[in-house]
Amino acid sequence: MIKKVRSHINRDEGLLFERSSPGKRAYQLPELDVPLVDAAAALGKENVREQIEHFPEVSEVEAIRHFTRLSTHNYAIDLGLYPLGSCTMKYNPRINEQVARTEGLAWAHPYQPEPLAQGCLEVLQSLESALLEITGMDAVTLQPSAGAHGEWTGIMLVRALLTSRGNPRKRILVPDSAHGTNPATAAMAGYGVEGIASNERGMIDLAALERAANDEIAALMVTNPSTLGIFEENIVKATEIMHSRGGMVYMDGANMNALVGVTRPGDFGIDVMHLNLHKTFSTPHGGGGPGAGPVAVKKIFEPFLPVPRLKRIGEALAFDYDRPQSIGKVRAYYGNFGVLVRALAYIMAHGGPGLRNATLDAILNANYIRKQLQPYFDMPYTSPSMHECVFSDDRQAKLGVRTGDIAKRLIDYGFHPYTVSFPLIVHGALMIEPTETESKDELDLFVDALISIAKEVETDPEMVRKAPHLTRTSRVDEVTAARKPVLRWVAADER
Ligand SMILES: Cc1ncc(COP(=O)(O)O)c(C=O)c1O
Repeated sequence: MIKKVRSHINRDEGLLFERSSPGKRAYQLPELDVPLVDAAAALGKENVREQIEHFPEVSEVEAIRHFTRLSTHNYAIDLGLYPLGSCTMKYNPRINEQVARTEGLAWAHPYQPEPLAQGCLEVLQSLESALLEITGMDAVTLQPSAGAHGEWTGIMLVRALLTSRGNPRKRILVPDSAHGTNPATAAMAGYGVEGIASNERGMIDLAALERAANDEIAALMVTNPSTLGIFEENIVKATEIMHSRGGMVYMDGANMNALVGVTRPGDFGIDVMHLNLHKTFSTPHGGGGPGAGPVAVKKIFEPFLPVPRLKRIGEALAFDYDRPQSIGKVRAYYGNFGVLVRALAYIMAHGGPGLRNATLDAILNANYIRKQLQPYFDMPYTSPSMHECVFSDDRQAKLGVRTGDIAKRLIDYGFHPYTVSFPLIVHGALMIEPTETESKDELDLFVDALISIAKEVETDPEMVRKAPHLTRTSRVDEVTAARKPVLRWVAADER
């Protein structure tokens, strides 16, 4: 009879705090061979902590095994398909990592004098040029650290331009198929938010736009392709309406994975847009890691772009801070440099035709999944899918199974769930984005899993409702976890 199973087979991994044993050490340092400095005297007493209370004391091998075991609890893009719609979880090619680890790039310091940082500045310049060619815009800033940060920067640029013309205006129009960060951005930039309904095809309702676009509207913020995975077929008309009323059009370009090499926002009338390098250009993301949300603009916005701007003086590159109309700095230094290097590596490794092929493959993969799953799941908006497809759980909900249940059951089949209940205009949404990096075999496995679950819903809905069954932990109380998060370990005697 086994009395105690080893912890990596066990369902739970205890915290290091719980394994602590006084006197154990995970490091071996040589004897101190310099005079002991009085830290409190050197740093000031208020800057020195006497001890770190309850700090876990474990051996090196215990620490290593603990973190290695934890790492195996994670699902990762290097394990298999990660079909989170809207997130573009595509494989991160290792060549990007290798380039980012090049000594001169990896060890560059932001305070390095410009003449000694010419290589790094060339990297930034090359990325700017590539992004301008891809987007068809006139100028770009690489500073913002994420998509939402890019949105905010972009809307601040709209505000700055309109203010310089005498009136920043009051509201931003946001279609109901936009990403959730868009209305949040508009509000953070000091604008009111006014919704625009989509029509039955999931496109902006032009008649509604005509009615709404008055002289109080600063901009239309449009996610294109929208969160329905649909290309906004009325985009040219929409930009014409906005421009005729003195307003601007901001494009959330986080879904550029469906457009790169095929069409360019600058060519269809967009004034300001951002890109999510950590989606479209394969730089790693998830877990709150560093990202990059460059903002590309038309010429009229250039004077307002964040400082510093790169400028060429003869052969050399330098930073220009003398830009009186700039909205200022939006980030320390020059952006997430390591992410920018990875994106440039990806762009250069593909080249123009390669990037276009990646786009076409992303669209093909999404449409393959759509075609395979359509007999089993309802699809409220049937306009052509771009890089992702969105189903609803309407059919399964009649048997008491919701999109969240299906997603949890998918974990039992070895896949990361798709995006659940988003976009909000599809009730009970299943939003699936396979990306171009998946093989047909992997897509088939995924499709088989979802078809199998659709059949389980009909024969044993209760079992699906209680999924997952094969994980260390099954259902957790998500509401309490969100409302009363426990983010820090607290010793038993302090609880
Ligand atoms: C369409 C869209 N817009 C904006 C964002 C926000 O980007 P970030 O999470 O980098 O702030 C996302 C994130 O995935 C997105 O999918």
